[in-house]
Amino acid sequence: MLTEQNKASDSVKVVGASNPPAGNQTLSKRQRKKRRYQRFKQNKTQVADGELAGGAGAEAEVVSKGRAPADSRRHAAVHGNYRRYYGYRLGQSFEEDPRLQVFERRWFANRRCLDIGCNEGLVTLAVAARFGAASMLGVDLDEHLIRNACRHLREERTQAAARLAALAHPSAASAPGQEGSTIAVGSMQRRVAVTAVRALKATHFQLGDFLDLEAPTLGSVDTVLCLSVTKWVHLHHGDAGLAALFTRVAAALSPGGLLVLEPQPWRSYQSAVGKLRRAGLALPPLDSLQLRPEALPAYLAEQHGLRLLERRQVGAAAPGFDRPLLVFQRNG
Ligand SMILES: C[S@@+](CC[C@H](N)C(=O)[O-])C[C@H]1O[C@@H](n2cnc3c(N)ncnc32)[C@H](O)[C@@H]1O
Repeated sequence: MLTEQNKASDSVKVVGASNPPAGNQTLSKRQRKKRRYQRFKQNKTQVADGELAGGAGAEAEVVSKGRAPADSRRHAAVHGNYRRYYGYRLGQSFEEDPRLQVFERRWFANRRCLDIGCNEGLVTLAVAARFGAASMLGVDLDEHLIRNACRHLREERTQAAARLAALAHPSAASAPGQEGSTIAVGSMQRRVAVTAVRALKATHFQLGDFLDLEAPTLGSVDTVLCLSVTKWVHLHHGDAGLAALFTRVAAALSPGGLLVLEPQPWRSYQSAVGKLRRAGLALPPLDSLQLRPEALPAYLAEQHGLRLLERRQVGAAAPGFDRPLLVFQRNG
């Protein structure tokens, strides 16, 4: 028989532990968690995607759900490589990223897409699955974030496949008397589910600094997303680095291809510089940067053949998203 005490101990899953420590059964759930955390600190093991990077360790799952290990608490996001970026920027009030509301399906549907500085991949995956990208590649220089993005991708693929399977199930068929409308809704839902499954199959993540990655094949993508990344490239690599980023983007885009750009405003540079200097980075003085965000439309048109097509603004009801989204088109 399953007693309450047994149930409680069953609910704490121990990853990869062949021999649970003696006396574990008599400890409360809280005590077991504390003990695992202490052992985690002693062992200095690393958690990677719910598995241990460095050999056997029973602590991974419990610790990864608890407070962040000291290393990640000290993490200085000097490239904008925030952990929990979406929690921080979205706060508690949004179910999804408000930028998705202003994105247009036609920017991504059946197109080869690239997301530069994809972070944990949440926007990348939502864009690919919802709008049906022909392919999607997310690139980020932070290994921890790319690992999380890969985990999210696995989860999304599983969920999308399950949704599709559920729609094929007889219980999803129409009720007597509602056949016509239900069949129409059902086939639309199936189309949406098939689109998501296909797009997620063609989605990948790559670790690397976009400026250092092997040069993109000319004309290899139809849409590039570059959201809240330019400031970090600009601060680390100066005007030359930002110019190099756009040279690569323009080279990667097919003729007529789109760049969806969310540049951070100049007023946000100062606080970022403070943070980077506190983290011990030597940076060029801010006033040595000439390529200001407000000048990008003219610069991109003149230097890179990228013409401003539209300007979108996320609603004022979404604080933290008051940056314009600029859509550029590469000359055909
Ligand atoms: C502020 S976050 C924006 C994340 C995401 N684009 C969004 O808007 O939701 C900036 C991201 O760009 C990444 N990043 C910064 N410089 C990069 C570079 N040179 N190459 C690739 N990724 C970069 C950071 O690691 C971070 O995840």
